[in-house]
Amino acid sequence: MKTAIDPMSPAFEENRAAMLERVADLAEQHAKALAGGGSRYVERHHRRGKLTARERIELLLDPDSPFLELGALAGWGTDFAVGGSIVTGIGVVEGVECMIVANDPTVKGGSSNPVTVKKGFRAAQIAAENRLPTINLVESGGADLPTQKDIFIPGGKSFRNLTEASADRRPTIALVFGNSTAGGAYIPGMSDYVVMVKEGAKVFLGGPPLVKMATGEESDDESLGGAEMHARQSGLADYLAVDERDAIRLGRQIVRRLNWRKHGPAPAGDYAEPLYDPDELLGIVPTDLKIPFDPREVIARIVDGSEFDEFKPLYGPSLVTGFAQLHGYPVGILANAQGVLFSAEAQKAAQFIQLANQVDTPLLFLHNTTGYMVGAEYEQGGIIKHGAQMINAVSNSHVPHISVVLGASYGAGNYGMSGRAYDPRFMFSWTGAKSAVMGPAQLAGVISIVARQAAEAKGQPYDEEGDAQMRAFVEQQIENESLAYFTSGLGYDDGVIDPRDTRTILGVCLSAIHNAPVEGARGYGVFRL
Ligand code: COA
Repeated sequence: MKTAIDPMSPAFEENRAAMLERVADLAEQHAKALAGGGSRYVERHHRRGKLTARERIELLLDPDSPFLELGALAGWGTDFAVGGSIVTGIGVVEGVECMIVANDPTVKGGSSNPVTVKKGFRAAQIAAENRLPTINLVESGGADLPTQKDIFIPGGKSFRNLTEASADRRPTIALVFGNSTAGGAYIPGMSDYVVMVKEGAKVFLGGPPLVKMATGEESDDESLGGAEMHARQSGLADYLAVDERDAIRLGRQIVRRLNWRKHGPAPAGDYAEPLYDPDELLGIVPTDLKIPFDPREVIARIVDGSEFDEFKPLYGPSLVTGFAQLHGYPVGILANAQGVLFSAEAQKAAQFIQLANQVDTPLLFLHNTTGYMVGAEYEQGGIIKHGAQMINAVSNSHVPHISVVLGASYGAGNYGMSGRAYDPRFMFSWTGAKSAVMGPAQLAGVISIVARQAAEAKGQPYDEEGDAQMRAFVEQQIENESLAYFTSGLGYDDGVIDPRDTRTILGVCLSAIHNAPVEGARGYGVFRL
């Protein structure tokens, strides 16, 4: 690929400076998750001789191997701690990519609130779709009692997910460091392998006070659910660890014997890095998302050797489609160019998605779209049915999808480009990206027109001053709610990322994806032609 970017140009400099500011802000938001429950609780935890969730993960993973954290900003913009009192991500243990799920005991005792439960479900879904073993690092106060009504009933699925994973031949391992009581006892209970830390793990359905209330029996933590008791008497613990580090060692030992084999095709043995510097990804997206940019400049900085075989380059130019390789894995790429999707773009996408399915090639969607074109000419030209063809192709596609929102992802364009509701295996947003039903100004304008028409219909004068205030208020509200942090906080993507990390993150995802077989769709829904 050739590049038209001039890193010395004022526009590039301006975009880069603005993106660097957003990246710095992203680090600040991530720091909230990294801080867990705050220094007071972290220090108390350390004083008790315990490791934090992230320290446990670091020791569990192969030295210097990457950890792709998922949902780091879960709960952003809510009353719950950023991160949702749980750390989830894909890491390599003894050469095996595993889904790691670690309670953060420094946040409300590691108890599970609605954010925790949702994030845990997403981790289980990723493990299931990509066929990954799961390692739970357990230390939790169980249900977050003040929000029990929102989590008690749906939360039961966490235990069901574990046994379904086991039945699906995806081993599950629980390393129990601390409290795992009441419903939480079923995390080790439903896991294939259980390690408990001596004098740390407490696994019982009811603690001493509850037992006293229920039966009058006097008991203590150790006899009800201590690690020694479970290792020697109940048999719930398969391994007794002398301390936390020993539990991690045992966890690694278990993975070593899983005889794990990836079922997807292996990547090319040798591949070239992109010709262009990924650092330049910082200067491509304009601060004003209404200004279009050429996604080929992004593709050139993320695919192997900057080699991209563009498909139908002269047709439907507002959507770029083509084949490439990324970290040795084949990918088909769909990337919005001018923002709007017209009929030709929608049909080109539908054809391209079918081609990728025909040859079992994963698809990468790079979003920067304002949605499908509106207006009489386009309606009469069949934009709905052409958009429907694209959405049909995306919905019934069986090859793995990965979505990255580079700029805007508005309206049904979000659906056609395999947004969250279309179950891409992974979805990320560049910091500064926006997702919403439409742009803030357009949305406020639509409300204003509807209100004006309603007033006219009733023969009432329209309050122009009130309208201006309403528009400003709604615009600001939609602006805030479209922010990547906000949508990530709601669990609508798997993370907000620094553009420079895109290639690495996609490489980790593609490698994880290839734990499962990669097979395209054998049949499609009826295409409305
Ligand atoms: N729901 C909501 N908040 C909880 C909680 C829960 N299940 N468990 C702990 N917390 C909160 C505590 O109120 C405390 O909040 P604060 O610091 O704002 O006052 C904070 O988490 C830390 O708890 P603390 O008891 O100081 O921590 P600890 O490390 O000494 O003990 C537990 C942790 C989990 C052993 C202990 O808090 C506990 O037994 N919790 C209740 C467990 C339970 O019965 N859960 C019901 C399961 S269905």
